[in-house]
Amino acid sequence: MPTHQPSASFSNHESLEISNPQVLPSTPIAVDCEESNFFQDHKKNPSKHYVIVMVGLPARGKSYIARQLTKYLNWLNIDCSIFNAGEKRREMLGAGQSSFFWDKNNSEGQEQRKRIGLVTLQELIDWLMLDETENEESSKKMKYGGGNCAEEYTKREIKCAIFDATNTTRERRQMIIDHLTDKNLPRPLEPNHIIFVESICNNPQIIEANVRDIKIKSSDYKGVSAEQAINDFMQRIKAYEQVYETISDDEEKRLSYIQMIDIGKKFILNRIGGYVPGKINQCLMNIHLAPRVIWLSRHGESMDNTMGLLGGDSNLTEKGQCYAKVLYRFVKRMQEERRNQEISIEKPQLDNMMVWTSLLKRTQQTSFHFKHDENFKVVRWRCLNELDAGVCEGMTYERVKEELPHEYEAREADKFRYRPQNGESYLDMIYRIEPAIAELERQRCPLLIIGHQAVNRILYSYLTGLRPETCTRLPIPLNTVIEIIPNAYGVEEKRYDLNQEVQKEYELIMSQKK
Ligand code: F6P
Repeated sequence: MPTHQPSASFSNHESLEISNPQVLPSTPIAVDCEESNFFQDHKKNPSKHYVIVMVGLPARGKSYIARQLTKYLNWLNIDCSIFNAGEKRREMLGAGQSSFFWDKNNSEGQEQRKRIGLVTLQELIDWLMLDETENEESSKKMKYGGGNCAEEYTKREIKCAIFDATNTTRERRQMIIDHLTDKNLPRPLEPNHIIFVESICNNPQIIEANVRDIKIKSSDYKGVSAEQAINDFMQRIKAYEQVYETISDDEEKRLSYIQMIDIGKKFILNRIGGYVPGKINQCLMNIHLAPRVIWLSRHGESMDNTMGLLGGDSNLTEKGQCYAKVLYRFVKRMQEERRNQEISIEKPQLDNMMVWTSLLKRTQQTSFHFKHDENFKVVRWRCLNELDAGVCEGMTYERVKEELPHEYEAREADKFRYRPQNGESYLDMIYRIEPAIAELERQRCPLLIIGHQAVNRILYSYLTGLRPETCTRLPIPLNTVIEIIPNAYGVEEKRYDLNQEVQKEYELIMSQKK
């Protein structure tokens, strides 16, 4: 096994270059956080919001990166939305422009592109300046308490807009800065809240796969043969290459930017500091294109489940133990199927599969058979323990309604933010579970998570890009595996109902006991 040594070098006092980001130095990254005097000049309240400006040639994974960022930030309760110039073009001009549209000698095309860019940017600014939900969210927070994080994040007060376009020239980037910091805006952005994320990719395999698998399926190439579409898209890339100016430290020293080279092989950071930029950076560092599968399952039936009791740390029932066996057989079966299927840019890792559990007995007992198979690595996480129901632990929902009606009502009114006395809310759980999410994204091998009802709702909302406040009543039944396969557009999801198999196994065991 080669050992990876982190190599870090300061190109100047403001930026840090990191090769092999999987192994980060444990010391904090030094960034220049010098106070800007921008708002002294403008005498305005600074906007708390952020804008991420994507930069890069076509087919460099910008939209994929933008979607990953949106999923992660929304899950962290930061309101995030994408504004895509390509979609705006199709909306304004209709799909189907040939590569000539992007030719630098096509002055009409240049004008139209400029206009589309401005319209997209204006929509982004309008969305950012709209703070309509603030009052409603603040009052909820006052009533039920926030999460384990600074108030402004739990109140969903911070917005992050992503401008998804090529933004490949210095002039264009300056135009974006000028608009976002315009002192006539109700709340102009501080320059360090505008983060440029440039994807530089020179790996022909990745570019080709991107064009073949994604670009030529766009409505721009409807009714066009694959070969023609590939040729035209390559011409479009050439047109961009003629005017492309990468972000360079010499000329754009004052920009906050992250350059991502060959999807995660190397990162360059400049003027990146603070909570939101830190989270953006963390998300980018874990992005990879390796195909993999994630299976989400609850533990098998527990003693407390049979009585409808909340929380606790009870053992599995006989049926629960049958599920442990059925789940093990199911995963082995699926692994065999996948072994023959995978075709992609990165070779999938099918061995050394990970199984994650919480520290509670019911999940560990469900992982029993995996622990005895050397092909699986079972890892226990405290942060995956079930929601702490506080004073309601060990009670049924009916008893809570009868004996603690104020708790019951508060939970009904806002299940996401409701924190039972001495317990935690779903919102609290997001910040508790977050370290497991970072690790999950980094993984390239298949992963089975044996969790709990509330924990799996939170994980499911992250994996599928659902807003976490909408997940608190999602059905996460026992004896069911949710399969999630991330792809370029989002995720593929399947549910496997293993109830019948569990019942058969149970009947077999009972007949053997007679
Ligand atoms: O009922 C099983 C359980 O895992 C409890 O331990 C936990 O309190 C509950 O589900 C969480 O689900 P909900 O938020 O819907 O009560």
